[in-house]
Amino acid sequence: MMLKGKKGIISGALDESSIAWKVAERCHEEGAIFTLTNAPMAMRMGKINELGEKCNSKIIGADLTSVEDIENLYEDSLNELNGKVDFILHSVGMSPNVRKKKEYGDLNYEWLNKTLDVSAISFHKMLQVAEKKEVLNDWSSSVALSYVAAQRTFPFYSDMAEAKSLLESIARSYGYRLGKLNKSRVNTISQSPTITTAGSGISGFQSFFNYAEKMSPLGNATADECADYCIFLFSDLSKKITMQNLFHDGGFSSTGISEDIIDDFS
Ligand SMILES: NC(=O)c1ccc[n+]([C@@H]2O[C@H](COP(=O)([O-])OP(=O)(O)OC[C@H]3O[C@@H](n4cnc5c(N)ncnc54)[C@H](O)[C@@H]3O)[C@@H](O)[C@H]2O)c1
Repeated sequence: MMLKGKKGIISGALDESSIAWKVAERCHEEGAIFTLTNAPMAMRMGKINELGEKCNSKIIGADLTSVEDIENLYEDSLNELNGKVDFILHSVGMSPNVRKKKEYGDLNYEWLNKTLDVSAISFHKMLQVAEKKEVLNDWSSSVALSYVAAQRTFPFYSDMAEAKSLLESIARSYGYRLGKLNKSRVNTISQSPTITTAGSGISGFQSFFNYAEKMSPLGNATADECADYCIFLFSDLSKKITMQNLFHDGGFSSTGISEDIIDDFS
């Protein structure tokens, strides 16, 4: 029971394929108690209720681009959990440009703002409100999900690349601040391509998933494996890890080329 006695807030569980869904299941297995949150529109799909029952967790609707929604989310969560929180998962991303297949050279700038707000600034908002409302216990751990397109170009990823760079930067800046404040830590996990609703929305995703699988000496990291890694990061075993972008990708980010890929070209 690595998280016995720990309390948290988990965002972004849409259906059983969501990374956040797996994280919630594992947190429950490890003895944590937590609330679940998603955008009101996603909640209307109803799937998240199953997860709530399974994990004995209250579900609280919040659009994470809204400071007011986040304030309510924290107020409700602290009441429900009977105290401050030890961990927060930010597992939220969306790009209208990607959804509506706008080319990178023809971005709609209102939609770009939306991409950045939903996928990155929402993490700043969660941390800023948490700081102001004193929501975080000492040594708390906040984790957001990122992707290697923050460092390297993947043309199909479009403006989500900018969002991930910003997200990782926010984790660094806020990690410093919260570390000084009460030893809280903030990190991002740069996860392998994973077959989920958000993942599959990216064009050419399946080909890229297969390519990454062949490039990575350990193969792609699955959502279940990502959940295991989150448990470690929420636990006291990772107390001095903060302000990091942690690659959880089977070795993809450090590999130039693999024999499997060479074979495909010979
Ligand atoms: N799937 C992949 O290949 C992959 C790889 C690396 C990183 N990630 C990241 O993992 C995270 C989770 O994505 P996923 O792959 O599990 O897909 P997913 O579609 O299951 O999860 C995305 C979630 O974001 C929520 N969301 C969107 N707008 C919101 C808003 N305004 N307020 C609150 N919630 C909102 C959606 O309702 C959904 O639950 C994202 O940050 C994604 O970029 C995914």
